[in-house]
Amino acid sequence: MNYAADVSVCLDRILESTDLSGLTKKDATLFTQRLEAHFPSLFEKYTYVYGHQYDCYYHLQKLVETLRDGVKKRKPALKKLDENRLKSPLWYRDEKQVGLACYVDLMGPTLNDLHNRIPYYKALGITYLHLMPLYDAPSGDSDGGYAVSDYRKVNPTLGTTADLEKLADALLKEGINLVLDFVFNHTSDEHRWAKAALEGKKQYQNYYYVYDDRTIPDQYETTLREIFPQVRRGSFTFNEQMQKWVWTTFNSFQWDLNYSNPEVFNAITSEMLFLANIGSAALRLDALAFIWKEMGTNCENQDKAHVLIQAFNCCLEIAAPAVVFKSEAIVHPDEVNKYIGEDECKLSYNPLLMALLWNSLATRKTRLLTRSMQKSFAISDNCTWVNYVRCHDDIGWTFDDDVAQELGINGNDHRFFLNQFFTGRFEGSFANGVPFAENPSNGDCRVCGSLASLCGLESALQNNDAKGIEEAVNRMLLLYGITFSIGGIPLLYSSDEIAKLNDYSYRDDVTKQHDDRWVNRIAVTPEDTALAMEKVQRTLSPQEDASLKVFKGLQHMLAIRKTHAVFGKARTYILEASNHHCFAFLRENENGEKLLVISNFSEHVQQVDGEILRTLNGTSCKDLLSDSTFKGDETVVTLRSFQQLWITQ
Ligand code: GLC
Ligand code: GLC
Repeated sequence: MNYAADVSVCLDRILESTDLSGLTKKDATLFTQRLEAHFPSLFEKYTYVYGHQYDCYYHLQKLVETLRDGVKKRKPALKKLDENRLKSPLWYRDEKQVGLACYVDLMGPTLNDLHNRIPYYKALGITYLHLMPLYDAPSGDSDGGYAVSDYRKVNPTLGTTADLEKLADALLKEGINLVLDFVFNHTSDEHRWAKAALEGKKQYQNYYYVYDDRTIPDQYETTLREIFPQVRRGSFTFNEQMQKWVWTTFNSFQWDLNYSNPEVFNAITSEMLFLANIGSAALRLDALAFIWKEMGTNCENQDKAHVLIQAFNCCLEIAAPAVVFKSEAIVHPDEVNKYIGEDECKLSYNPLLMALLWNSLATRKTRLLTRSMQKSFAISDNCTWVNYVRCHDDIGWTFDDDVAQELGINGNDHRFFLNQFFTGRFEGSFANGVPFAENPSNGDCRVCGSLASLCGLESALQNNDAKGIEEAVNRMLLLYGITFSIGGIPLLYSSDEIAKLNDYSYRDDVTKQHDDRWVNRIAVTPEDTALAMEKVQRTLSPQEDASLKVFKGLQHMLAIRKTHAVFGKARTYILEASNHHCFAFLRENENGEKLLVISNFSEHVQQVDGEILRTLNGTSCKDLLSDSTFKGDETVVTLRSFQQLWITQ
């Protein structure tokens, strides 16, 4: 008979030889209980990936010690948060949740300065603050902080770890969830692991993918996608010091971590728990699609990438259960959805909605948006979308070509059109975007630009075009309005809320000029926030006037969102709007409360068949945004240019 130790035997043995004496009695009990609940799943995932290696159980034992240390270092306030979140786990589906992503230096410029920004956050209603990567990183180009040299050290230009903890405490007290990046696909080449590898230490070379010659890299490269072709061709970089090739999916100074090595999994878990213990409510899993490499594939979205993320999630459940993962998978929509699950990422960016909102602005048509959302919007009730319009990155047109094909749209041709449109090369375009990462081999490209510039504000201001300015403002409010109402946490990207234009100054900075994403990484100054909070007593310039209109428009919509439960936990049904310029959906919650949203993506008046009001049971109803009322039996619903209706019973 074959003997296979079952998982409970394995846990018993691990516990027998794990010293829990450093934990309080209460923590030791809690830790053991959580292990009993989550170790079976962790064991299954871990052995799935590493079980064939002779030292798997040794590393598993070490992992449990790492988790114990994580529990030991967790502060009482965070343990309290663990308890509360376990009691009401679905906080992230609440209508009160509103996010903002910002760079510390562009809003601070230091962590301590951000304390003074809390009133501004509160004026907007922010309850979720994503601080862009703030860790120690190479000076000069660090991919905007996404090349981390030390996860436990704040970049000295921004402050100290103690400052970060102080800010985290202050935010927690104000009911604002802190979200941090967990950049776990790669480290910078200045991380101590990389430095040890550079010194020739084999153990640390095994933390990365390091090759003596091009044989294996060449084999992999036949099926890999190039992410930054403008920086370097291919996915590997020759390192002079080691005289070896290193896997670098992104920039050459970002070395991909080797997750086929269990020591890497354990080491990064320890870093993850450090970030959890600073006081973050969610960790943004940066570039998670790339963490597993499999010869002959594109090395994105591999089965074991999912299993590893699930294993990390088990680690959180054991050591820091208040913390949830947010997936940053900017890939094919079917693949995006696979990261979403209670046992994997409870939150996920919604890149499909983002890209198709822009598509609808360009084409003034909503069929691709409607059809795609019908196919991909529904996710588990225990998870939620993070809906956004702009972020610090480029816009990639990640829609499903098969869905496009059904509508007679050729995916590649259409992407070409969108790139032309948003870079302003298309005749009649309102947008001022910048092309990004043009691939000389296949002509692919993506688009950068600020919300305001892509919506037409930049060109309208240049042309003194009052109507154009008004349309640009309305486009901005339209796109954000959909993210506020469709279901999920809306995530504002700081500087959007006050409609700032592209910042072209990166072109004069040698550390930035090769990366056009800097055009949409824009400072929000104390003058900007004073303007937004109406502390400026003078005649406003047309640009300031537009900024204020956008700020107040967003504020108004957010205030409405927060006072109606139907914006929180509810199901979304994407409707056919009977007018191809309009997009419509219905939301309904468990109490039968309903919300009907209809949006017009064109600059002309549009009408939708009144039948749509019957989804609200045909009774009288009201648009929450304008307070105008409907009897419920109208034959048509009329929308002004770029108007949006939020209709409730
Ligand atoms: C993510 C980040 C992006 C970065 C990349 C590599 O996509 O959003 O800014 O360049 O990961 O870390
Ligand atoms: C990768 C990431 C995407 C990011 C890009 C960097 O494609 O998946 O998130 O936008 O790199 O610009």
